This record gives sequence, structure tokens and C-alpha cells, in this order.
Amino acid sequence: MQISASILSLEKENITQKLYNLEVANVDYFHIDVMDGKFVKNNTSAVMKENALTLKHISQIPLDVHLMVEDIDYYINEYLDLKPKYITFHYEVNKDKEKIIEKIKYIQKYDSMAGISIKPNTEVKEILDILPYISLILVMSVEPGEGGQEFMESSIGKIKELREYIDKNNLEVQIEVDGGINNETIKLIKEAGADIAVVGSYLVKSDDYKETVKNLKQKVSCN
Ligand code: DX5
Ligand code: ZN
Repeated sequence: MQISASILSLEKENITQKLYNLEVANVDYFHIDVMDGKFVKNNTSAVMKENALTLKHISQIPLDVHLMVEDIDYYINEYLDLKPKYITFHYEVNKDKEKIIEKIKYIQKYDSMAGISIKPNTEVKEILDILPYISLILVMSVEPGEGGQEFMESSIGKIKELREYIDKNNLEVQIEVDGGINNETIKLIKEAGADIAVVGSYLVKSDDYKETVKNLKQKVSCN
């Protein structure tokens, strides 16, 4: 199982050093939470762009961009230049399937992989027909908008449903889970079939990133 480090709750003081420490802690991705103050209340768009640019300078670790924004096209263009591994946007912004597939194809044309994210109240059956077009499905296990919230167990059923559908249909889609992941909840999502855990405050508020990542990986490698 892979770990995508959410830097949303990282305090600004000495941030470059902290980003570097995450890099050497062996995280698999940097998860960039882009919020526009519209789709969610907080606005992180300026600070996340700055962090993403810093990361491109100091790190080889791929970026995993999570857009919590209404103007998806604008932010896709803002991040494509940085060549992220994944660019993920929210299904709930505009559920028009044709428009969604257009955006997916646009991301892919510029050599990033496209992902779709679903909020806790969105049912998996609504997005099953999009899965063949994407590389990543991001299941929110908290309401999007801020770090440090409690994991919602209702996401477990959704992860299982996705795992079953993806395997049955031989799709190459990674299941990523975002929100409230710690050394206990990571086991639950692993058992349910997740591939990537987004870990925010549990990691960035810890004293020793390397140790925390090692322990998290240990929790899910032997069961
Ligand atoms: C929430 C963000 C998450 C969040 C994860 O809107 O999408 O990525 O920062 O942080 P924790 O792990 O603290 O829930
Ligand atoms: Zn996120």
C-alpha cells in the first residue's frame, strides 16, 4: 500500500525543511489539496501552488493533486505544467458525464493521469461508468475542506464496492482514500481494498516523519 502525504496541515515555519524531511521519509506521493474558497470554505490555492513549485525543485516524488474547486479547467491548467502524476477533481461540481470525460481526456493529453473524487454522501454506483476512463478514484472519508477530521466508517463499504467492481471488470484504477487516516484506520482501508492512503495531520504533526511512515507501512504489510 502506498502513502500520499497531505501537506495541508503542515505549519509554515521552516516549510522547505519539512517538505525535505517528508521526502526522505519515503512517502510515495505528495498530496496537494487545492481549495478555492467556493467548492469548500477554505482557500489554499496560492499557498499550495507555492508548495508544489518548491517540491518540483527539491523532490523527485510525484505530485498527487486534489482539486476541491469549482473552476476545474482553470486549476487543471494551473497544475499541468508541473507534470503531476495525478490530477483529481470532484464529481459533485458538475455531474454531466460528457463534460467530465472531456476534462479527463484533456488531463491525459498532457501526460498526467486523471482521477475523480467522491464526497462522503456520493454513492459509488453514480460513478461506475466513469471508472474505465480514469486511473484513480479518490474516496473522501471526511467532508472535504480541512485536515484533522475524524475518519468516517461509511467509506469502508464504498471502498469494498469499488474493489469488487474494479477487479471484476479488470480495470486499472487505483483506489485512494483521503481523510482521518492514522495507524488504526489505515488497517481498515487496506482490508477493504484501498491502494493509496492519504495521510495528513497524523503524519505532519508527528515528531519523526521517517518513523511514522515506517510504522504506517508496517501496519499494512503484515496482517
Ligand atoms: C481534506 C483534504 C485531505 C486532508 C487530509 O479536505 O482533502 O487531504 O488534508 O488530512 P487528514 O489526514 O488530517 O484528515
Ligand atoms: Zn485531499
